[in-house]
Amino acid sequence: MNYKEILDRVMAVVKPEENIGHLANYIPELGKVNPNKLGVHLSTTNNFDLGIGDNLEKFSIQSISKVFAVCLAYKTMGEGIWKRVDVEPSGNPFNSLVQLEADKGIPRNPFINAGAIVICDILISHLEKPKEAFLNFVREISDNPELTFCQKIADSEKSVGYRNIALCNFIKSLGNIENEPEEVLDFYFCLCSLEMTCQELSKAFLFLANGGQKVSDKKVILTKRQTKRINALMQTCGFYDESGEFAFEVGLPGKSGVGGGIVAVFPNNYSIAVWSPMLNAKGNSYKGMMFLEQFTTETEASIF
Ligand code: DON
Repeated sequence: MNYKEILDRVMAVVKPEENIGHLANYIPELGKVNPNKLGVHLSTTNNFDLGIGDNLEKFSIQSISKVFAVCLAYKTMGEGIWKRVDVEPSGNPFNSLVQLEADKGIPRNPFINAGAIVICDILISHLEKPKEAFLNFVREISDNPELTFCQKIADSEKSVGYRNIALCNFIKSLGNIENEPEEVLDFYFCLCSLEMTCQELSKAFLFLANGGQKVSDKKVILTKRQTKRINALMQTCGFYDESGEFAFEVGLPGKSGVGGGIVAVFPNNYSIAVWSPMLNAKGNSYKGMMFLEQFTTETEASIF
């Protein structure tokens, strides 16, 4: 497969397309990002590594961090985490509260905000220094000891975080948060504020395309079974109420963030990260979805 030719060809089509959508300006700092950025990076399980456009520029990964959080919780606690958070698509927006009362405080999955907040609570209960442990985990899977949170973005989100504050308090009232909501939310806003490039993201996700084992140093991060399950969750829940559409158009497990990033994984083949900050109505990158749809069309390969 000539990936370079395909990336070039898809870029030539997607770049000049009209950039429709909106920035995630409900987080003030994210409203300041240049909307026309477009970067892509591909990392393969046989050590091929290639980027195009703004692939080396850092951006706010936001909800993509939820994959790192659930991987760390799964690694630390094993199957017990599924008692606290379910594995069903929610069919609702990422920040929705509506299902929680009927579901007795058990979020539908770890990728909606409610689920990620519960995962943060689990990490706080089981790790001595959760922020440090989380950063060390992400640094390890991406072979990059310099990755860090962006306090400015975390503070910006916290200053307007009414919805997440409500979610956390509501789940606490239903008995599924052990720690103080303020501590849980502080951790949640921090992990959403992580900044990475497309290159760093595709490298960090590569172990999920490689049965749970890092390609660079062969270190086992998750078991094969755990890896299958995380990929299944990304497939069914990674794009909120647009997860069906992403499976339909792209056909790969993936995860988006309101910073405009999307990472997708093709088991036994590659991971690919795309960044374009303008979001569609469901909060997923407009051109990111378009790029990946054309990429899997051109490569004629998906998990289906
Ligand atoms: O909690 C929030 O609203 C953001 N920190 C993350 C949301 C997000 O990225 C949803 N993704 N598409």
